[in-house]
Amino acid sequence: MPKKTYRIAVIPGDGIGVEVMPEALRALDVVSQRFDIGFDYQHIEWASCDYYMKHRQMMPDDWKEQLKGADAILFGAVGWPATVPDHISLWGSLLKFRREFDQYINLRPARLFEGVPSPLANRKAGDIDFMIVRENTEGEYSSVGGVMYEGTEREVVMQQSIFSRHGTERVLKYAFDLAQRRAAKKITVATKSNGIAISMPWWDARAAEVAAQYPDVAWDKQHIDILCARFVMNPDRFDVVVASNLFGDILSDLGPACTGTIGLAPSGNLNPERKFPSLFEPVHGSAPDIAGKNIANPVAMIWSAAMMVDFLGGNVAGPERDAHDAILAAIEDVLKKGPHTGDLGGKASTTEVGMAISERLAGA
Ligand code: NAI
Ligand code: MG
Repeated sequence: MPKKTYRIAVIPGDGIGVEVMPEALRALDVVSQRFDIGFDYQHIEWASCDYYMKHRQMMPDDWKEQLKGADAILFGAVGWPATVPDHISLWGSLLKFRREFDQYINLRPARLFEGVPSPLANRKAGDIDFMIVRENTEGEYSSVGGVMYEGTEREVVMQQSIFSRHGTERVLKYAFDLAQRRAAKKITVATKSNGIAISMPWWDARAAEVAAQYPDVAWDKQHIDILCARFVMNPDRFDVVVASNLFGDILSDLGPACTGTIGLAPSGNLNPERKFPSLFEPVHGSAPDIAGKNIANPVAMIWSAAMMVDFLGGNVAGPERDAHDAILAAIEDVLKKGPHTGDLGGKASTTEVGMAISERLAGA
């Protein structure tokens, strides 16, 4: 049987995105050999501030056309505020992908590894291991609203939150499905129905309806304020957490922050129906303060590539799942034994850590 080949659009972007991307490709080359999975790369230099400086736009007009045949997008980071304002670089690239490719799930694992000190006292590896599912296309982040009587005493501003039945049900279903596939089969729904007294009770009602279809998944709902506190006080009690766009944005920074450095946290922007390519990227940005020195931690980028491979395989048993698990095991081993980059207190370069992960991946 000819081996399965996936077409991957590779977009390094700016700053450390350019430095960590080769380490993800190095790991993918190893799993390609080891698990007989083909990757056909489409290397893309746009969606970067360098491209913007030459063309006065972040992406070519036919960007959607160019990405049409891609099975997934592997993305580094975008942004170089010294030359291009962030709202231009982000809205001109990443946010276009998320919206126009209907990547309505933002998925972020939070996991504490051995060898990585947690900012939370007395937490050890295994204590924190959960997934945050954030709605990525509507909710509080809407473009409906405006300012009236600007600059006068009567100045008013309004911005509407938009919760559609379609948009809410699909994110809840995705999260319950995910919980059902995990060992703990537990899910927490973030809400604020005591304060946001129209849309949040409605969101809770949708959650109850979806929950009824998953009798084997234990669920509860928690107000966002106490939920944030519990991420810090009792992170061990969470398995899957699902939230609206704004609440999910906050939780998905707080969760990974509880597990140490931002240099570890991966994410997926998913279109689960696979009508459009999904995008996998580290949570961190382009880190201009350390860019160009080959000292960035490549783990978040490599882990993002592992999430991509698992997604390509349908998140079920198979060579893609095996490849994902093998990459994670290699990451786990390197975090435990070193080498480490500076954010983890080590002295190793991006390349050294990337090579160590790939070597363990090849030798395991
Ligand atoms: P950042 O995530 O780039 O950096 C925050 C801090 O974490 C910096 O001190 C940086 O050195 C450190 N850091 C980040 N990644 C690291 C890694 N892999 N290893 C070691 N240390 C790491 O966030 P910041 O500085 O707020 O934003 C810089 C640029 O990135 C801006 O243009 C921003 O808009 C953009 N950005 C892009 C994102 C994306 O492409 N998804 C996400 C976040 C920011
Ligand atoms: Mg954020």
